[in-house]
Amino acid sequence: VRVAALIPAAGSGTRLGLGPKAFVEVAGRSLLGRSAAALAPHVDEVLVALPAGLELPADVTARTVTGGDTRQTSVLALLRATDAEVVLVHDAARPFLPGAVVRAVIAAAREIGAATAALPVADTLVRAGPGGDWGTLTPRERLWAVQTPQGFRRDVLLAAHEAALTDGFAATDDAGLIARTGGAVRLVPGDARLFKVTTPGDLALAQALAPVWDA
Ligand code: C5P
Repeated sequence: VRVAALIPAAGSGTRLGLGPKAFVEVAGRSLLGRSAAALAPHVDEVLVALPAGLELPADVTARTVTGGDTRQTSVLALLRATDAEVVLVHDAARPFLPGAVVRAVIAAAREIGAATAALPVADTLVRAGPGGDWGTLTPRERLWAVQTPQGFRRDVLLAAHEAALTDGFAATDDAGLIARTGGAVRLVPGDARLFKVTTPGDLALAQALAPVWDA
């Protein structure tokens, strides 16, 4: 296998409150089904990490592994289940994935070993004080919000994961594990539609976007 899509979909969806999030449907299709279908044309195989005891939704064809307690351990299980040269890690919870972003991330991963979709921050950023009021302004210059997909040479990402496991280091994404070990990560312009469905408000946005996306 040359390129594999790895989809961590083993989260419990606590903040959304509708059961395991990857199985939640938007306009008749599961979040996982939408993510897998967007990736499949660009890769040689699709691998999904599922919550223990659950099977794939009917609208998804993929090889599966059982996920771990955290996103990080779910991705490590996926990495160990493939021999692909390049892997693309993508959250099931980001169902609207433009093909141009997938192609750009794969190309950058091949070129420098690690890459992620990301967007320059548009809002003013402030760290709140202990009481929740305005604390410290953070200049947004050169700040990017990190999305997925993220692309890696598999050997590079596996080494970073194993080092993080040994050191007890936890990260919320995979590119962060590469950066921690001093590796270069290319920022590839992502897309506003790649937002992660996390809260009920995000689900409402996804429901509004789906008919336009599907048309
Ligand atoms: O919780 P969060 O929205 O950050 O999760 C991001 C992605 O990681 C989701 O697609 C979720 O299903 C996945 N995940 C996982 N295993 C976990 C926790 C989260 O595969 N234990």
